[in-house]
Amino acid sequence: MRSICHKLRADGQRIGFVPTMGALHEGHLSLIREARKMADKVIVSIFVNPTQFGPQEDYMQYPRDLARDADLAATVGIDYIFAPTVEDVYPPGFSTYVHVEGLSDKLCGKSRPGHFRGVATVVSILLNVVRPHFAFFGQKDAQQTVVIKRVVRDLKIDVEIVVSPTVREADGLALSSRNAYLTPHEREIAPTIYKALQKVKSMVDQGNTDVSQLLTALGDTITNYPEIRVDYAAIVDSETLESVTEIGKRPVIVAVAAYIGKTRLIDNIILSAPE
Ligand code: PAJ
Repeated sequence: MRSICHKLRADGQRIGFVPTMGALHEGHLSLIREARKMADKVIVSIFVNPTQFGPQEDYMQYPRDLARDADLAATVGIDYIFAPTVEDVYPPGFSTYVHVEGLSDKLCGKSRPGHFRGVATVVSILLNVVRPHFAFFGQKDAQQTVVIKRVVRDLKIDVEIVVSPTVREADGLALSSRNAYLTPHEREIAPTIYKALQKVKSMVDQGNTDVSQLLTALGDTITNYPEIRVDYAAIVDSETLESVTEIGKRPVIVAVAAYIGKTRLIDNIILSAPE
């Protein structure tokens, strides 16, 4: 991969890179389409990264089907798939990790200790191998985009991070490979998370900028369903991830993580106070 990328760069090609864990869906394809627009060559990595899964999480169950993913990626048009083995990425004696202080311990980091260390480490490794001009990430994983932008800034990695909007089902549920774990009943109530986020947006559009009132409304919408257990609901600054008490001009992330049955889903929207 390194020598291919070296040659592409030497030939003056702009490289667009889309890191994934496979199980590709429309969300991933939207990132690939964005990469197609901005870059000459598009590389997609498929690597289920063990260091970002907790011991009780779904690393073993995570869907793996490289042939299917390759077919799907080909429908949008990509130039290379980079599918390293665990030993390629983490050879014996591997001992260097990237820890983004502060940002990693908030929101999802609280219930998934070590998760963002794994993400920041693997993304740093992948960016060092591919050395793309642009790397593409989904807004769906809002905290991940903030952590990665910080890694790139702090470690002075020479890449432009591009964030694309969340792709949703017709009923609002954000696409995720983990949606496949939902039972039919759970799938039916899952769009409640996005409905609750929309409720907050409409309140802000109507001029309510009081975060405690907004969070109460958000929680009330979700707790209508006893099957949904909220892990966190938060309104935070979109760069520092610090809680805010009032919505102002700086964009905030309204973020929710919730268990529906055994499946943990996340979603978010970005808002700022109306002019
Ligand atoms: P994965 O969950 O496979 O997601 C790969 C990329 O697709 C991420 O940038 C994610 O935000 C984006 N994505 C997922 N669902 C989306 C949706 N509904 N709409 C838009 N984009 C969506 O995120 C990871 O893998 C890993 O943490 C990774 C960055 C590859 C590091 O291992």
